[in-house]
Amino acid sequence: MDIGVFIPINNNGWLISENAPQYMPSFELNKTVVQKAEGYGLDFALSMIKLHGFGGKTEFWDHGLESFTLMAGLAAVTSKIKLFASTAVLTIPPAIVARMTTTIDSISGGRFGINIVSGWHKVEYSQMGLWPGDAHFGKRYDYSTEYVQILKELWETGESDFKGQYFQMDKCKLSPPPSQPIKIVSAGQSDRGMEFGATYCDYNFCLGEGVNEPTKSASVPARVLEHAKKTGRDVGAYMLFMVISDETDAAAMAKWDSYERGADRAALAHLLGHAAQDVNTQDTSMAAVVQRNPSPINFNMGTIVGSHASCARMLDEVAAMPGVAGIMLCFDDFIKGMDDFGQKIQPLMKCRQDRLPLAA
Ligand SMILES: Cc1cc2nc3c(=O)[nH]c(=O)nc-3n(C[C@H](O)[C@H](O)[C@H](O)COP(=O)(O)O)c2cc1C
Repeated sequence: MDIGVFIPINNNGWLISENAPQYMPSFELNKTVVQKAEGYGLDFALSMIKLHGFGGKTEFWDHGLESFTLMAGLAAVTSKIKLFASTAVLTIPPAIVARMTTTIDSISGGRFGINIVSGWHKVEYSQMGLWPGDAHFGKRYDYSTEYVQILKELWETGESDFKGQYFQMDKCKLSPPPSQPIKIVSAGQSDRGMEFGATYCDYNFCLGEGVNEPTKSASVPARVLEHAKKTGRDVGAYMLFMVISDETDAAAMAKWDSYERGADRAALAHLLGHAAQDVNTQDTSMAAVVQRNPSPINFNMGTIVGSHASCARMLDEVAAMPGVAGIMLCFDDFIKGMDDFGQKIQPLMKCRQDRLPLAA
């Protein structure tokens, strides 16, 4: 069972609350988190790409770094952990992403992969004149399909002459090749998104749901399995969960209650407004999941709140769901959360016993 960390590339991580820890993103913060993760034997770290925030009193995600350049820096100060950057496909041409990837593959000694972001938050792209029109909501995975085909051609053959609806290559060259096959991940929750993942990706991220209901989202990794069966490829589900831990269940729950009381209503209104614009949603899409909760202070992602023993037990339940190949964690307080995970939670997790000797 792989464990990764969703690093805080934008301010305040994933809690849209005035009562949650308030912090700016920086290289130093992310370096500390990733070096700790590596020390505790975690398998991977992923940074998202978010280009427009939600405002409000907490200026939620109004402050953010860039994913590839951050991971290039982190590649130089780590030695074992796998690193993933996210490309928002509307913003960077695939031939450049292919070359940035081989560069970070070289810096990291073969520890680098990419997350394909097809785009669901229109203002990120319209603010820079890159939104192709609302029809993109319905075509985003067709666009991403051409994008990934070009990446693979360049990495695997050193050349692409791809002619598609969105991209035309003219014997485009790439050398040197990556040192090993580049792992590609995506996070589609809709059937079209999962079909894309099952056809082109190695892992499909899944949004858990509910507080202390670790198996509530069991149908999501099961759907990843179904889609993978259709393409005959080996595609694992990586579950995203937030962990809020403390010495006792009551102390951890008091923190969660306080975060809920401090919900940043203006920032949430912006998030919900933008999620509602995504006309291509189905019940399982992220936009729909977010809208199911009137106050999604943590994007309505699966959240584990409790003592270190309770967190370990619930994470083992997540790991035991069919199709689950890994869990990606985020925390309310990333530095303390990572230390508590590494020192107090992970040693109690049955699904990590075989990895513990690897931890420093
Ligand atoms: C773990 C995870 C990481 C994601 N990373 C990003 C990201 O970096 N940028 C972004 O705009 N969306 C990101 N998303 C959103 C997804 O790319 C995708 O648009 C969303 O899950 C909706 O799926 P759908 O397109 O199938 O409806 C992420 C989602 C998850 C669960």
